[in-house]
Amino acid sequence: MAVPLLDLKAQNGALEWELKSAFERVLRSGHFILGPEVEKFERDLAKFARARHALGVSSGTDALLLALMALGIGPGDEVLCPSFTFFATAGCVTRVGAKPVFCESSPVTFNLDVRDAARRVTPRTRAIIPVHLFGQPADMDAVLALAKKHKLFVIEDAAQALGAKWRERPVGTLGDFGVASFFPTKNLGALGDAGALITQKEAHYERARILRVHGMEPKYHHQFVGGNFRIDALQAALLSVKLTRASAYNAGRARHAGHYTARLSRLPGARLAMRGDARMASTVKEKARLILPITLPEGTAIWNQYTVRVPGKRDALRAHLTARGVASEIYYPIPLHEQACFASLGAKPEDLPWAHRLAGEVLSLPVYPELHDGQVDEVCNAIADFLKAK
Ligand SMILES: Cc1ncc(COP(=O)(O)O)c(C=O)c1O
Repeated sequence: MAVPLLDLKAQNGALEWELKSAFERVLRSGHFILGPEVEKFERDLAKFARARHALGVSSGTDALLLALMALGIGPGDEVLCPSFTFFATAGCVTRVGAKPVFCESSPVTFNLDVRDAARRVTPRTRAIIPVHLFGQPADMDAVLALAKKHKLFVIEDAAQALGAKWRERPVGTLGDFGVASFFPTKNLGALGDAGALITQKEAHYERARILRVHGMEPKYHHQFVGGNFRIDALQAALLSVKLTRASAYNAGRARHAGHYTARLSRLPGARLAMRGDARMASTVKEKARLILPITLPEGTAIWNQYTVRVPGKRDALRAHLTARGVASEIYYPIPLHEQACFASLGAKPEDLPWAHRLAGEVLSLPVYPELHDGQVDEVCNAIADFLKAK
């Protein structure tokens, strides 16, 4: 039985009639830029994310850029962020002229190691970007404490985590801005590119709203240099349909993640990640052959990815799964401090040993909501056979 990594045809096909009628409504309205569809989506999104304000934008990347611009971050500033993340997190910091300062990640949550970040604070540090990677909330107690101590802005990169919670509070609402992406692979995926910024702060919202349209307010009066960061009315209308299912999508993923953990944790050679792993030196040889993801007790994850660690044998497991018709993916094979475009920052691979090591060990398994239980079993059986054979 083939198990793809994602099945968007199944997800969108189930909503075909509603999506087509949203499309037709926009087509007939002739209103394609901002306007009522965008405003409705922003209201619904703010409610879903329990945020005071939501601003629809063109992508998660543009949401990050807009947040940095709205906070006035630029040349001479340093921004703390993980190295083990998607490129946009740090790319946007460079695009506003600031310096990304790469920090270690925790092998427990794959998220920012805040103790390491604390060691990298300088008088030029202006902001910190915790990424809630794979839908797992970062340790926001530690992030907020560090930010308070050094008066840093907090931009939560919740591109993969809309709906995840930290101490029952939705991620994205704990810092200055929360970034959402509706890239089709996200738990709430558009039919193209789209994103959003959420914030609790009126002044941040107003500034971002104006920067979204070239810093223009009122018409043809430009207060600041912004950009075109608007979400399409069409994507907003389509997302409004899918937003009504977002909690169900998240719950479906959590159910599959629970099945994976229950089945795989019983296999010889497998174990759950443990909080204590964070204290383990990155050079320690791991005895377990498969390490399963956990959520910290303070958090609720939305499982955008179910990512396991396979010390020493990741590529072999991936090849084995491929041969069995099971898709998997490596998010992310090269940490950002080792990317060519950041070479001028002078970081060596061994400067962030966990980020480096994780990139060589991680493997994400199919966890999309439309998976059948039989497909989850298929993935587990294939992994069990791999562990038996090696
Ligand atoms: C952690 C993270 N940050 C930012 C982004 C950027 O979002 P987008 O692809 O919508 O520009 C993504 C999406 O891939 C992401 O996963």
